[in-house]
Amino acid sequence: MDDLQTRKDDALEAIAAAANPDALEALRVEALGKQGWVSQLLKTLGKMTPEERTEKAPVIQQARAEIADAIAARKQAIDDAELNERLATETLDLSLPAPETPRGTVHPVSQVMDELAEIFADLGFAVKTGPEVEDDWHNFTALNMPESHPARAMHDTFYFPDHDDDGRRMLLRTHTSPVQIRTMVNEGAPVRIIAPGRVYRSDSDATHTPMFHQVEGLVIDRDIHLGHLKWTLETFLKAFFERDDIVLRLRPSYFPFTEPSVEVDVGFEVVKGRRVLGGSGDAPGHAWMELLGSGMVNRRVIEFAGLEPDEWQGFAFGVGVDRLAMLKYGMDDLRAFFDGDIRWLQHYGFSPFDQPTLSAGVGASA
Ligand code: DAH
Repeated sequence: MDDLQTRKDDALEAIAAAANPDALEALRVEALGKQGWVSQLLKTLGKMTPEERTEKAPVIQQARAEIADAIAARKQAIDDAELNERLATETLDLSLPAPETPRGTVHPVSQVMDELAEIFADLGFAVKTGPEVEDDWHNFTALNMPESHPARAMHDTFYFPDHDDDGRRMLLRTHTSPVQIRTMVNEGAPVRIIAPGRVYRSDSDATHTPMFHQVEGLVIDRDIHLGHLKWTLETFLKAFFERDDIVLRLRPSYFPFTEPSVEVDVGFEVVKGRRVLGGSGDAPGHAWMELLGSGMVNRRVIEFAGLEPDEWQGFAFGVGVDRLAMLKYGMDDLRAFFDGDIRWLQHYGFSPFDQPTLSAGVGASA
């Protein structure tokens, strides 16, 4: 027991002198660690006679508690000293001048989405959003793409291992079209919405990134026909590109969720190495470029969304927002959109004070 007293005093002395957290930890292990001498002593209690144990147990427990307290106190003292030293040496120079102009810029994708919302609000469209983590019913089935449909394979879908409570497979939405379904299911008809947002596909090169942006459009009402679709797209594209000479060409196509489906091409010419929209694609020096997909909403989709297809018809369209931004503002590599390079953002970004408005022009000066 005298031996215990001595060892304890030695330990307390060493702890009080420990200069840093590592030294302190070594002392803790030496005494209180699994193989530490205090722990070893505690183990001997089991083999003692009851009388012996009654006598020695409190002494050993007392030593253990004193050492643990000493370590905690020393730890606090070391931490305090370290903090005080940092406070004394680290300084922050608050007198540095502010940058001449505010540095933050609005990303071209945000800018274009704001422009779209402004243009379509003027035509009576509301802006809707839906979840990026979707289920395969909203993303595929209700859009007339059943389990075995080949279009599913074309979407390069990112699937989750999970299923939702209804047993539906979870995925990252591959397009904004599921927002069509959600809006019809939640709000019924009539519908007049756009749905901008992020979409995901397992694909990556100069013109494809695993995450990109689309805007969906949906109109559901009585007696809606292809003429309404063409007028709406023409009005939108003229306002967006701020040119009256935008010419569209509607080409028959196929999407499972529209019938008939039309691919929309737009006339352009190359000026100083850059594609500039305007004029017929058949005019000299001009060509057509494919811009977006659209069509009359398939009556099966209207049924899936719980509406009566003999009463309600409509049109839908989907277009890449990044693509619209590149065409309007002249970037040529999609990947730069997602690099977060401050110089690119300074060059192509927009002033936060430059809100797109129809009266001031939706194309804020870059
Ligand atoms: N969802 C299609 C895609 O991502 C684009 C699209 C085509 C949307 C035609 C539509 C549409 O609403 O009618 O490739």
